[in-house]
Amino acid sequence: MDSIRVQGGTPLQGIVKIQGSKNAALPILAACLLTNGQTYLENVPKISDAYGMIHMLEELGCLVRWERGLLKVDSGEARLGVVSAKLAASMRSSIFLLGALLGRFRKAVLDYPGGCVIGKRPIDLHLKALGKMGVRFQEKEGRLEASADELRGADVELGFPSVGATENLILAAVAAKGRTTVKGAAREPEVQALCEFLKSCGAFIQGTGTNEIKIEGGKPLSGARFRIPADRIVAGTYLFTGFATGGNVFLEDAPVSHMEAVCHLAERMGASLVADQEGVYVQYPERAGELPFLRTDVYPGFPTDLQSIVLAVRCTGTGTTLIRETIFEDRFHVVDGLRNMGAQIRIVDGRSVLVNGVERLRGTRAEAMELRGGAALVAAAAGASGETILSGKQFIDRGYENICRDLRELGARIVSE
Ligand code: EPZ
Repeated sequence: MDSIRVQGGTPLQGIVKIQGSKNAALPILAACLLTNGQTYLENVPKISDAYGMIHMLEELGCLVRWERGLLKVDSGEARLGVVSAKLAASMRSSIFLLGALLGRFRKAVLDYPGGCVIGKRPIDLHLKALGKMGVRFQEKEGRLEASADELRGADVELGFPSVGATENLILAAVAAKGRTTVKGAAREPEVQALCEFLKSCGAFIQGTGTNEIKIEGGKPLSGARFRIPADRIVAGTYLFTGFATGGNVFLEDAPVSHMEAVCHLAERMGASLVADQEGVYVQYPERAGELPFLRTDVYPGFPTDLQSIVLAVRCTGTGTTLIRETIFEDRFHVVDGLRNMGAQIRIVDGRSVLVNGVERLRGTRAEAMELRGGAALVAAAAGASGETILSGKQFIDRGYENICRDLRELGARIVSE
């Protein structure tokens, strides 16, 4: 079951409930290592990256089990271990265990984190920042060994608001002695969710959601009950897919307050949106309107994780669009697949593409190469004429609980096989 079959051309119509956020759940799962007692997490998405993180926690001695829809995590018996290569190599989020293991054991041994193919994904910002807290690193046989005699609070300035580096710093800082100030911190909602979770466990954190976060370390952290917020990228994926098909949808639970740039862009492309605390209703134009330029940026700018999906629907939008990807250096893997469907896309340089809207794409055989590019091909197939068979579903399953189920609920003719 690793491919998806889509009969394109059906306008989307209906209601879909948005799943919990992958990028909030992963660091919060790692943070459970820092708590004494049991944590109950609600709305953890049932995606392979979450299962991978759960497996790594179990390998470290945590007790993890689903109980009536909640995920119960007890890290009381956790012990230091090597984060497994197989799982670490398959997903970037293993890197969050670095900060959590240092916070718990003052030591961590990780195989170099893998992840998508969207660029070299270095961890220099993580290492430089943690080094300021007294952590020493060495590399042995492709493993990263980190240790600290004493983890001490520090004033850290991040050269770039890296989401992962900010989250790792927070995970180490809540366990460190003294105060840590993170300047140039990432403001993404997922960083905010991590801070909210840690505060619910008893951590003292100020500046959540700003570029300057202050943490008083060393407070004992209890378990907590916490709801993972809905996934703004999954909501944005389905929101933009409607531009390829037309119709109208209601995205239940969509975290609209964290989707300002996304909703603003959808309105610029001609959709009409009505948002309330339950979610967002979207009415699509016959054809996506002009969009001369789109630039991805750190939050609250337009999210890089939706760049491929917007590229896909601009293939049948009005006019020409220049898309500039400022976060990752190699996030245009989806271009070949879209071209095979009849898209007119020119790669300007490693960071920009120019897409010229055509009337309609045509179904074909396609292959997902990574998570968001795969979702983009599904969006394109939903609006294309004819049938598309998309292989590489396993990449999409990393971040989407069940993209076929969700889009079927919106009326798309899509099955996994
Ligand atoms: C997180 O990745 C997300 N992943 C990504 O989502 C998301 O695209 C990204 O943040 C940006 O929002 C998770 O949360 C699990 P970064 P992360 O550190 O932490 C460079 C998805 O599709 N950089 O903010 O890896 C890096 O190479 C995934 O759900 C360094 O140079 O992102 C990239 O160019 C994809 N040195 C840029 O910063 C470092 O030490 C942004 O990276 C760290 C990062």
